[in-house]
Amino acid sequence: MCGIFGYVGNKQQAADIVLEGLKLLEYRGYDSWGIAVKQGKKLVYEKHVGKIGDAKINLPQSALGIGHTRWATHGGVTEKNAHPHMDCTKTIAVVHNGIVENFQELKEELIEKGHKFISETDTEVIPHLVEENLKHEGFSSSVRDAFNLLKGLNAVVIANAVSKEIVAAKTGSPLICGIGDEELLVASDASAIVKHTKKVIFLKDNEMVIMGKDVQLLSLPEGKKLEVKPERITWSFEISTKGDFSDFMIKEIHEQPNVIRNIAENYSSQVEKLAKDVQRAKGTFFIGAGTASYAALAGTYMFSKIAKKHINTSVASEFNYLEDFLTKDSLIIALSQSGETIDVVEPLIRAKEKGCKIIAITNTLGSTIYRMADCNMLLNAGPEKAVASTKAYIAKVSVILMLAYSLVGQIEKARNILLKTADEIRRLLSKKTVDQIKTIAKALSKTKNIYAIGRGASYSSALEAALKIKEVSYVPTEGLAGGELKHGTIALISKGTPCIVFAPQDETYGSIISNAIEIKSRGGMIIGIGFKKEEVFDHFIEVKDVDSGSYMAQVVVAQLLAYNMAIELRLDPDKPRNLAKSVTVK
Ligand code: F6R
Repeated sequence: MCGIFGYVGNKQQAADIVLEGLKLLEYRGYDSWGIAVKQGKKLVYEKHVGKIGDAKINLPQSALGIGHTRWATHGGVTEKNAHPHMDCTKTIAVVHNGIVENFQELKEELIEKGHKFISETDTEVIPHLVEENLKHEGFSSSVRDAFNLLKGLNAVVIANAVSKEIVAAKTGSPLICGIGDEELLVASDASAIVKHTKKVIFLKDNEMVIMGKDVQLLSLPEGKKLEVKPERITWSFEISTKGDFSDFMIKEIHEQPNVIRNIAENYSSQVEKLAKDVQRAKGTFFIGAGTASYAALAGTYMFSKIAKKHINTSVASEFNYLEDFLTKDSLIIALSQSGETIDVVEPLIRAKEKGCKIIAITNTLGSTIYRMADCNMLLNAGPEKAVASTKAYIAKVSVILMLAYSLVGQIEKARNILLKTADEIRRLLSKKTVDQIKTIAKALSKTKNIYAIGRGASYSSALEAALKIKEVSYVPTEGLAGGELKHGTIALISKGTPCIVFAPQDETYGSIISNAIEIKSRGGMIIGIGFKKEEVFDHFIEVKDVDSGSYMAQVVVAQLLAYNMAIELRLDPDKPRNLAKSVTVK
């Protein structure tokens, strides 16, 4: 949530460097944005409402600048509420990710001391607190003392025009500091830094970094100096750009065959190790949010079917209310693309307190969940930039599929299935199939509501299909288990109501086709996704049977449907309204 970027170095184009960084971070929030740069002993800024797009800025040459792209929490979407926020003297500027829970009382105290507030945000207390502290101490300790007063989980980047420094500090939300050649950068995501340098420090919670002529790392509570141990980013800048594709979402959909292939070819030993943990545990739980929770649900079905083992699944935000029966022998497998989702972090904190073992399956090296875990499995799907998750879903399900087979000593079988699945997805991405999908997307984009049904592991495909369609096309779509239709929702089917039916070659086939017939006899329009054309289907997209890999291939069809509906409706598939990638607030 919210993208943060900062630059201090020997180049005079700080404003352009920050703007370019913000463009790469815009997927994290895009209702407004702003940049501040040092000019003499002051900071000057520009703020705008809306997406950055091809915006140009009109700020002076400078070697120090910070910027922010916002997903509003406190205060409406206005220029005044856009970051950076300044102190009264315009020497301090702050960009912030998180929520200052005690901002109201801090603001009242600061107003009493004569500070003038311009915005309705919680953030604005921070520059004024720093300004107040600067009256009696240096910059870094002013920031530290101010930051230690904030309640909640926060990440800030603070510029000082007088000391020519930037300080970044965090108790939550990611911050990565890049160490370049006579320049230092800080950002919410390594993909915004990698063009400048691959040498980075992933800030841990309760750490702060002082960036000036050199870089210093300090612990936030005590101000103790910490050793700087940079890590190297292993992927290249090109991976985090659109390349020849018009949008990140379609680029990421196309990357999926390679993502699966990579897991099939390189994950056997990691998966086998993980399987041992699952075998040892007395009670294993998958948790995740949104798309990750549907990957978890697909996993539960796969474990039951393939490994004959029950794994509990919970939406992460609900897991807190189910945690009473956790013991030190419980195993929690947290699924998260970003590794930052607060709804996943919170139950993990509690599970850790109970002594449970935590395994993280994430796509982000150094992320909060990555660091909290006892064991990690990185998806290595490359940066996922479109807000709607695609390749991370496929990567998570691939790992879970391998894990399920590994538990019954059939990892080779899993690898073969994954390789076949990658080929089938490649076929689905061919012009022929995509053209068919585009025709259906055109019809669907004109409808008021859509239903998606599946049974067994395809139930999770139905939920994921509905989520993808909702978030990028805004057409209300409900995903449900085929058997549930007759318990209420069938009342909503009338002439022409579209229903996507996932009908793979498995034990659910007969029953799901019966459900399709029930919908059809009430006038519904059936879009069948499966291995065989049936008379009941008004439209049909063939997904060849690739064993349990079919549950992934059929989701790719839904991703393509959702994407093409967004294009048909002239919507931006990468940045759906009201959403942000990486949800770090509750
Ligand atoms: C949907 C989507 C979200 C995320 C959810 C969890 O397309 O992207 O539902 O899946 O916010 O995010 P991560 O996986 O980063 O924890």
